[in-house]
Amino acid sequence: MPPTFAEARVDLGAIRDNIATLQRTAPRSAVMGVVKADGYGHGMLPAARAMLAGGATWLGTAFVEEALELRDAGVAAPAVAWILPPGAPLADAVAAGIDLGVSTPSLVTEAAAAGRAAGRPARVHLKADTGLSRGGVVAEHWPATVEAAARAEQAGELRVTGVFSHFACADEPGHPSIAVQQEAFDTALRAAREAGLRPEVRHLANSAATLTLPDTHFDLVRAGIAAYGLSPIPDLADTGLRPAMTLRCAIALEKRVPPGSGVSYGHRYTTDRETTLALVPLGYADGVPRAASNAAPVLVAGKRRTISGTVCMDQFVVDLGDDATNGHGEYAVLFGPGDSGEPTAHDWASVLSTIPYEVVTRVGPRVPRVHVGVC
Ligand SMILES: Cc1ncc(COP(=O)(O)O)c(C=O)c1O
Repeated sequence: MPPTFAEARVDLGAIRDNIATLQRTAPRSAVMGVVKADGYGHGMLPAARAMLAGGATWLGTAFVEEALELRDAGVAAPAVAWILPPGAPLADAVAAGIDLGVSTPSLVTEAAAAGRAAGRPARVHLKADTGLSRGGVVAEHWPATVEAAARAEQAGELRVTGVFSHFACADEPGHPSIAVQQEAFDTALRAAREAGLRPEVRHLANSAATLTLPDTHFDLVRAGIAAYGLSPIPDLADTGLRPAMTLRCAIALEKRVPPGSGVSYGHRYTTDRETTLALVPLGYADGVPRAASNAAPVLVAGKRRTISGTVCMDQFVVDLGDDATNGHGEYAVLFGPGDSGEPTAHDWASVLSTIPYEVVTRVGPRVPRVHVGVC
């Protein structure tokens, strides 16, 4: 049983409404809710259901195992898994009606074999590497790949349901690679068409592109971080998105200490007067990085404060000055939507020189996800 002091409250209504907002932003496209990595730390199944309630018609995962978990829970919506390492259970995926994101030429052969093994055509989204140089088939091998896929399609072993790619820098509006990737995607689509492929969905846009690049919406947009209410572009105004996660923790103890008290490991914080210290039992094992020591903001007793001293594995300390909370179930709020003056995941990301994706996905397994706002 995880301790109940801390909780990541997840507002499912916010996730549902964020998807509806994104659908209005991309009115002619279907919306895929990306639920990999336990729904970006929000809880995959409730997040998936909230997304479907908001109008998403596709779900996206990194791994087949994640998509199989959706199916095991009775989630029947079209779903794509796009990282297929050696040994990935492709035949199980095909049998469960999970689409495979195929990002190497040899995976065409493997997907076809999985289709034969499962006794039904594998549903395949061919991924073109248009410039991210991560997954995806490079331009040199793309024509042979689409032709091989077309032959397997004719043999009834697979069906190319999608052609897709992924941006490198869509979160940096105006980055020159965006236009280069768009052009490369057009070229890849033309080659697929010439090979006789007629995918149901062509897709390129992630959250950033969904919000800022309407020309890239095609038939389907893939929304991850924006569905959870966090903007992929920090200073993008008026997205209409609402952060879904609030991370908070009840204070475990409070005590008065004299001036000159060294606080936490390494004494990297020292009190400059008699003061009240509050102990918050959340640490780096729970996703509060050690780099948050003496740096990250937290709301306690109605005021924003800074973590005092080193973040430990299971706890950190906050100097409350003379604002004692008297231990009456007062919460330290690490981040949330910001409505009550609490910091946001963006605030944490900026202090930690990272992105809000990392802040929310790092919340550890000891922290119960409490889902509110029934969908
Ligand atoms: C292929 C692919 N599409 C879409 C997404 C969603 O990205 P975002 O969370 O920026 O919307 C990801 C996430 O990394 C991804 O890998």
